Amino acid sequence: MRKKIVAGNWKMNNNLEESISLVRQISDNIKDPDRQIMIAPSFVNLYPVINELKNSKIEVLSQNFHQKENGAYTGEISVNMLKSLGIKTSIVGHSERREYFSETDEILKEKADIAIKNNLNIIFCIGEGLEDRINNNHFKIIEKQLRKSLFHIKQDDWNKIILAYEPIWAIGTGETASPLQAQEIHSFIRSLLKEKYNKELSENISIIYGGSCKSNNARELFSQKDIDGGLIGGASLRAKEFIDIYNSF
Ligand code: PGA
Repeated sequence: MRKKIVAGNWKMNNNLEESISLVRQISDNIKDPDRQIMIAPSFVNLYPVINELKNSKIEVLSQNFHQKENGAYTGEISVNMLKSLGIKTSIVGHSERREYFSETDEILKEKADIAIKNNLNIIFCIGEGLEDRINNNHFKIIEKQLRKSLFHIKQDDWNKIILAYEPIWAIGTGETASPLQAQEIHSFIRSLLKEKYNKELSENISIIYGGSCKSNNARELFSQKDIDGGLIGGASLRAKEFIDIYNSF
């Protein structure tokens, strides 16, 4: 079933002390969540944050993982390592990974595969750049990303996938896709899933929006029929702002 989700992606922010302090402020204010709330600290702070949230329903995510099981990949983190900490879900394919770390659709396909093989859920990010939006290529880009990385996944495994639509031109820029622009893409994604798989799958998958989502625009975005919540970057670094977004459904 489709779930309502607010996930905070802290990116490369917050040291140990700051991570614990932020997570405490959030968990003190969200005792019994009736929607899913998730946060993604940096790798080094995952374990202390998981410990801090032992009795909380806030789920701790990782921001990334390597596409190989294990081996000589200095500085990398495997799915197995994450799972051994109790991580159940990871973000994959964020546009910053695609852009700054050269993660291609093919690499992201491998990442999706290794996650699913090891029973790790993923929040898989897709989205077009500014030029593609201006040239009206956004539908094509979204379709290409899905086809190249995810459309080989077996129907039964789609319950491990949450999609995040993140127009790159809206990430960290203060520009937000209008609720109608976002809704249009979310609905397009569902139509592709319906065509490739079936109606049930297309309606049951959660598709969240990311890109300068804040407390002052979350309510309108989340009220769109096909938007099931948000992947929040900058605004997830302030407890009150993040909690206000969580309360925006
Ligand atoms: P932003 O980032 O909210 O800072 O725009 C969103 C994201 O990258 O997930």
